[in-house]
Amino acid sequence: MSNEGYTRLDRHAHTAADDLRQFTLDVLHGLSEKPKRLPSRWIYDEHGSRLFNDICELQEYYPTRCEAEILHAHARDIVAAAGAPLDVIDLGAGDGRKSSILLEAASGARYVPIDISESAMQELVAAMRQRHPGIEVSGIIGEYFDALNWLSTRSGRRSLVLFLGSNIGNFSKVQARVFLRQLWEALNPGDLVLIGWDLKKDIDLLIDAYNDAKGVTAKFNTNLLARINRELGGEFNLEQFRHYATYDVYSGAIESYIVSMVRQTVAVKGLRTSFDFDEWEPIHTEYSYKYLQADIDALAAATGFAGVAQYHDSRRWFTDSLWKVVKD
Ligand SMILES: C[S@@+](CC[C@H](N)C(=O)[O-])C[C@H]1O[C@@H](n2cnc3c(N)ncnc32)[C@H](O)[C@@H]1O
Repeated sequence: MSNEGYTRLDRHAHTAADDLRQFTLDVLHGLSEKPKRLPSRWIYDEHGSRLFNDICELQEYYPTRCEAEILHAHARDIVAAAGAPLDVIDLGAGDGRKSSILLEAASGARYVPIDISESAMQELVAAMRQRHPGIEVSGIIGEYFDALNWLSTRSGRRSLVLFLGSNIGNFSKVQARVFLRQLWEALNPGDLVLIGWDLKKDIDLLIDAYNDAKGVTAKFNTNLLARINRELGGEFNLEQFRHYATYDVYSGAIESYIVSMVRQTVAVKGLRTSFDFDEWEPIHTEYSYKYLQADIDALAAATGFAGVAQYHDSRRWFTDSLWKVVKD
């Protein structure tokens, strides 16, 4: 581990340069496709991670407040159910503000945040060491699937894996099932996972949460183009693109897009190429799937987990599942 308190763990990349190479390939691939798409993981550079923290403060963005309420009410029970010695492993940890509520009840545990955003990790490790002096913090920079590989190499300590903030909603329903099965495989019997799910609810509430009045979510989403400009020599004029988020009632997902408002050709010097956009052509950037309790229960049953507890906020807009790994 480095002095900063975190290590790098990338499947495709072992250095920041390799990370850049992967970003380059994903941009070339995604903007050459029809319909165009860019993976949402690339939103999270230093700017994107900060903007997501700002989103968490927005009046319209209820998930963070709902999940914080759940953790304040149940942190002790969750930690007690896990036992000791405990590793709290936080997948896609972000700024860890909610994980911190849980760590208040987990003295003596080790905290292992895993995130692709190096800037988020730097700030997180420093903040957690200060907030929780009794807890060893040892972060990992890596992608979710690298985290699974890392998890499968360890034994001896009980794991409580956090997958909070509706991170699972960024997977399609099939991807979520495959991911959860791989998570189950990587863990030992008796290990626990705590997963945050955003529940289906009034559609206007859902749409407002991804279309805030201050335009922070718009900046967050279009940070993808700003990042291409910064890191790959892109010439995107952000004034000519807009954020658009809508809810698909059939799939149950908020779908986020960046839409070109004019017909244009945009050069990306680092790729030595340019991309044509039609007037009103979208780039798909993110899914955020919403769930029913029955879907959640079915996923546990299909992937080998046994339900330990199901927690809700007072409005029942969000839920956290505590599941145990069962293997016989
Ligand atoms: C929506 S934020 C949630 C943060 C935090 N868990 C919460 O509940 O507030 C998603 C976090 O996951 C990280 N992330 C996104 N895609 C990832 C991936 N494929 N692998 C690892 N981390 C990822 C981002 O950098 C970001 O910090």
